[in-house]
Amino acid sequence: MRDDDRPIQRLQRVIARLIGTGVQQVTYQSKPSALQVEVTVTAPTLTERQRRQWQRQLTGQVGSREIHLRVCLETGQKQPSLRRRWATVMGLGWVALMAGGWWWHSAQTSPIAKAKSLRAPLVTRPTPPVSWAWSVQRVIDREFLPQWFRRRGVRLPRETAVYAARIAPGVAGPAYAFYEAGLGAFSQDFWPASTVKVLPAIAALEWVHRQGFSGDVTVAFPQLQDRLMVILDRSIRESSNLDYDLTLQLVGLDWLNHHFLTPERGFPTTTLQRGYSGLNVYTSPPLTLQEGHRRKTLPRRSAQGWNRCPRRGNCANLFELTEAIRRVVLHRELSSAEQFRIADADIARLTASLCQAEPSFFAAGAQAALRQTPRICHKPGWVLHRHCVDSGVIIAGQERYLLAIAMPAWSAGDDCQGLSRLAQQVLTALRQAPPTLLHQPNQGEPVQAQLLTRPGGHELVVRVAGADRVAVWLDREPWGERPGPQPEYRWFKRRVTPGERLLRVQAWREGKPIAYHSQKVVVRPVEEPPLSCETPLSPIAAQVIYRGSRRKSQVALSFDDGPHGRYTPRILDILRQEGALATFFVQGRMARQHPGVLRRIQAEGHEIGNHTTHHVRLTLLDAAQFRQEVATTQALVCRLAGVQPRYLRPPFGHYDFKTASWAAELGLTLLMWDVDTRDWQHRNPQRIIQIVQQQAQPGSIILMHDIFGSTVEALAAVIATLRAKNLELVTVGQLLAPGEPITRR
Ligand code: NI
Repeated sequence: MRDDDRPIQRLQRVIARLIGTGVQQVTYQSKPSALQVEVTVTAPTLTERQRRQWQRQLTGQVGSREIHLRVCLETGQKQPSLRRRWATVMGLGWVALMAGGWWWHSAQTSPIAKAKSLRAPLVTRPTPPVSWAWSVQRVIDREFLPQWFRRRGVRLPRETAVYAARIAPGVAGPAYAFYEAGLGAFSQDFWPASTVKVLPAIAALEWVHRQGFSGDVTVAFPQLQDRLMVILDRSIRESSNLDYDLTLQLVGLDWLNHHFLTPERGFPTTTLQRGYSGLNVYTSPPLTLQEGHRRKTLPRRSAQGWNRCPRRGNCANLFELTEAIRRVVLHRELSSAEQFRIADADIARLTASLCQAEPSFFAAGAQAALRQTPRICHKPGWVLHRHCVDSGVIIAGQERYLLAIAMPAWSAGDDCQGLSRLAQQVLTALRQAPPTLLHQPNQGEPVQAQLLTRPGGHELVVRVAGADRVAVWLDREPWGERPGPQPEYRWFKRRVTPGERLLRVQAWREGKPIAYHSQKVVVRPVEEPPLSCETPLSPIAAQVIYRGSRRKSQVALSFDDGPHGRYTPRILDILRQEGALATFFVQGRMARQHPGVLRRIQAEGHEIGNHTTHHVRLTLLDAAQFRQEVATTQALVCRLAGVQPRYLRPPFGHYDFKTASWAAELGLTLLMWDVDTRDWQHRNPQRIIQIVQQQAQPGSIILMHDIFGSTVEALAAVIATLRAKNLELVTVGQLLAPGEPITRR
C-alpha cells in the first residue's frame, strides 16, 4: 500500500463503521489548502429547512480549520426515528474530529505532498443514483434463454414475453442474474389482466399508512364496509374485480398514478386507469376510515387525469409487475430504499395473500423443473381469448427465482397450460446457466470508481477500502479481476463502445463479497491525434489476409460497399446497442455522399477500410489507375473522418500478384474473408444467420454488405449467434494484432 493512501482509507473505514451500509459514496477533493470530504448517506426525506439545518451542523471547520465535511442525502427512503438521526449526526461529528486529527498530523509532515496525492485521480463528485429499471436493462441477458431454446428445439410462441431471474445471496441482501426472451421484460405489448391487482393493494397500504392507519383500518364505502386487509386479500387471492375497483376508489387514481406509480418509486411505465367490475373508478365516493378510536372522513374525490397510457387501458410490463411482488415477498432482506413504506405486519399479510393466490399457471412446470413442490408467491392474470399472465417469486429450498410470462391465449390454451410448459423450460435453463456477475442495488463498503478517457484508450480506476480482490464489468462485458489488496485497481482498454454504460464493481475480502457498486458512466470517443492520416503509410511486404488466428476467440464482422444513407446508420444503431465493433470497407463515391455517416462509423469506434472509389475490378487496372482508385479514397477518408485505412478489400474479391504488391507500396494489406454470407445474392436474413451459424469460428472474417435491408434485419441475430459461440466481435485491426494472421502469397 502506498503511504499516502492511508488517511483516505482510514477515514473510509471510520465512516463505513459509523453509518454502516447507509453510505452510498464517499468522495474527497483536495484544494491546495483544504481537504473536502463529501459523504452521501441513505437518509430520510427532509424538508429544505431541515436539510439546511443538518448541513450547517455537519459542515464546519474542524481541527486545523482545513477540513470541510459535507453530507449529501440520498432521499426518498423511510423516515428513521429522530433518535437514529441524532446518532448519525453525532457519529459524523466524530468523523470530522478524527479527520481533523490526521490532517493536522500530516500537515506537520508534508502538506503539499499530501494535498497532491489526494487530488488525483478519483471522483470528486458523488455519483448520481442510477434507476434500478435502467440498470437491469443494461445487465439483463438477452441471449442465453433464446439460444437454450433453439438448441433444444423449443419454439417460443409468437408474442410471448418471458422475464426471469435467479436470486442468490449478494452483499448484505439478495442479488440477481436477469434473463429475458421473446418480447422480454420491458415490453408493454400484452394485456396485464389481473396481475396488476398487486399494485393498488400496495399503494392502498402506503396510502392508509400516510393517513395514520394500518391494514386493520375499516373502510366504509357506500355499498359495503370491510377491513382493508380483507378487501386486499380478496382482490389478490381470489382476484375479485369488485374489491380491486374498491381499492382504486380508496387510493384514488390520481394518487396512484402521480405519487405511487412513478419513476422515482421504481415504476416508470405502469399506469392504471381501468376498473374491472364496472364501478366508476374515476370518482371516489365519500369514505370513512376507522381503526380503534381513530376515525377520518374523506370527501368525494375526482381524478384529474394523466396521459402515459393510451386508450384508457392499463399499461404495465413484466419487469414492473414482478418488481411489486419481489419487493413485497423479499421485503425483510431489502435495503430501506427498496422497501415499500408499509408496516411489517401488513407486509407479512400481503405476502401471505400472494403466496396463497389462486393456483399458479407455473405450478406443474415449476415442480417438474425443480423436482419438488415449490412455494409460489404470485399474482396470475387471465382474459379469455387475450392473454395468460403470471408473475411471482418461486421458492424451492435454497433455490429462488423470479419468473414472469405473458402469452397470448391462442398459444397458451384457454386454461393457460402453455405457461406451465414454458415455466418448466425456463427454470430448467436457469439451473444450467453459466455463472455471471450478479446485479443488486449498491451495498457494502464504499466504492469509488471512475472511467477516464486517456490518449489512445480508456482507463478505469477503482478504490475499495479493505478489498483483496476486485472485478469490474461494463454492462455485461467483463473487464477482468485484479487480485491482492491494492490502494487502487486499474484497467486499460483501447476500444470501448461510446455511449452511456453501467459500470459494475464487485469486491471481496478473504473470499467473501464485501461490496457491490454500479454507476452510470459516459464513454467518450478516444481522441485520435489530429490529421496523423496525412502522412503516407510506409510500404509493407505484400500480403493477403483471409482470417485471424484460430486461437483467439474473436471474429470480425465486415460491411462492404457503403456508407449507405439509410442502412448504415441502422447497422451502427444495432452495433451500439449490442456493444459490438465492426469494420466498414467504404467506397469513396459513397463516403463523399454520406460524410456524416462515415464520421459516425469512426466516432463509434469502428474501423474504416478502403473498398476503392468506384468499385472497380482491380485486376483490369494499370498501376496509375490502381493508385488513383485507391489513393483517392485514402485521402477522402482522412479528410472526412481523420483516419487512414490500413486494409484494402478488392471489389468482387478479385486480386492478383500485381494488385497485392501495388497495395503494399501504398502501405495497404489486401483483406479477404473466410465466411461469405452471400447477402448480396439471396437477400434472406435467415440464410445469413444460418451461414454465420454454420461457418463462423474463432478468427473468422465475415463478409456482409451495409446496403441491404435484409442484412440489417439479420444483424442482431448474427451478433447473438456469434456470442453464443463465445466469440468477441472486434474490428479487423484488433483481430489481426498482435496475433499471427494467416496469409497467402
Ligand atoms: Ni463490394
